[in-house]
Amino acid sequence: MQAPGKIILFGEHFVVKGKPALALAVKLYAKSTITVGDDKHILYAKDMDAVVDLDSDNIPEKYKPFKKILEIINEEYGSVKPFKAELSSNIPVAAGMGSSAATAVAFTASLLEYLGVEYERGDVSRIAFEAEKITHGRPSGIDNTVSTYGGFIYYKGGAIERIGIEWPGEYVIVAIDTGIPRNTGEVVRDVLDRYDRFPDVMKPIYDSAEVIVEEAITLLRGGRIREVGELMSINHGLLVAIGVSNKAIEEIRYAMLEEGAYGAKLTGAGRGGIVIGLTPSNYVDRIIYKLMNMGYRRTMKLEPDNNGFAPCPNRGLNSGLSIKTPP
Ligand code: MEV
Repeated sequence: MQAPGKIILFGEHFVVKGKPALALAVKLYAKSTITVGDDKHILYAKDMDAVVDLDSDNIPEKYKPFKKILEIINEEYGSVKPFKAELSSNIPVAAGMGSSAATAVAFTASLLEYLGVEYERGDVSRIAFEAEKITHGRPSGIDNTVSTYGGFIYYKGGAIERIGIEWPGEYVIVAIDTGIPRNTGEVVRDVLDRYDRFPDVMKPIYDSAEVIVEEAITLLRGGRIREVGELMSINHGLLVAIGVSNKAIEEIRYAMLEEGAYGAKLTGAGRGGIVIGLTPSNYVDRIIYKLMNMGYRRTMKLEPDNNGFAPCPNRGLNSGLSIKTPP
């Protein structure tokens, strides 16, 4: 099975305290393939070239979420026969694109398929969420939800709504990787700590973030893309206020805006990771050219995924995506 990564268009961090967010699944995928094993439950993380025995009591921290998923499925659906699970992904890691959630979703769905039991998408998302809690501490649940269902997802306090918006073809979301990895759990903790220290200052910022999400959906539905971009930049301003931007993010953002993007913001936890810009498609190449000349080597034109987790197509992981790296 494969499961998509995501970007948050509006509302990251604010969503952790129950405000809404709007996210979009994108055509970058984590993949999990399960075959019958001999006598153990073996995980092979292809990108790390790591082999992990999930039955062992002493497995590295980063693989504990997969052990948790296996335990939950054993308990709820009956004991899983020995297997070899191969995991791989082309979603940038620790970059705000939901790579851990997508991997958890793909692994959960492939295990349930392997068991041959009946399940709903909601079951996959719920189990992957338990794994995300081990990875990130206090996640809102938006990452596993978007990866499970695909498309545009409005998420508020655990409730979801799939927003049926057709992405207008003459606009592109361009993503530039700062190349700075960060730990989502840590950044979320810092923000919550700032909230606790300045609740009266922070509350109106969170309220404003909520209005931005509601307004953005109306504008997207009306095809008012320039204003959607403007709201992205306002949303970014609020993210600066809660302390999750940094110099690289700001440098990328200003370069995008100077080259014609309608709006730009960090996405996900911030303090590194990916910066996204919304731009008419005829400006994309010059934005990418400028950022590459500034030394940002990983640039992507993102395309929406509308399926969520699904069997892997034969044509491979990269379909529909262009990643440019200079020679
Ligand atoms: C991470 O992709 C988004 C955050 O809002 C954390 C979360 O919602 O769990 C920063």
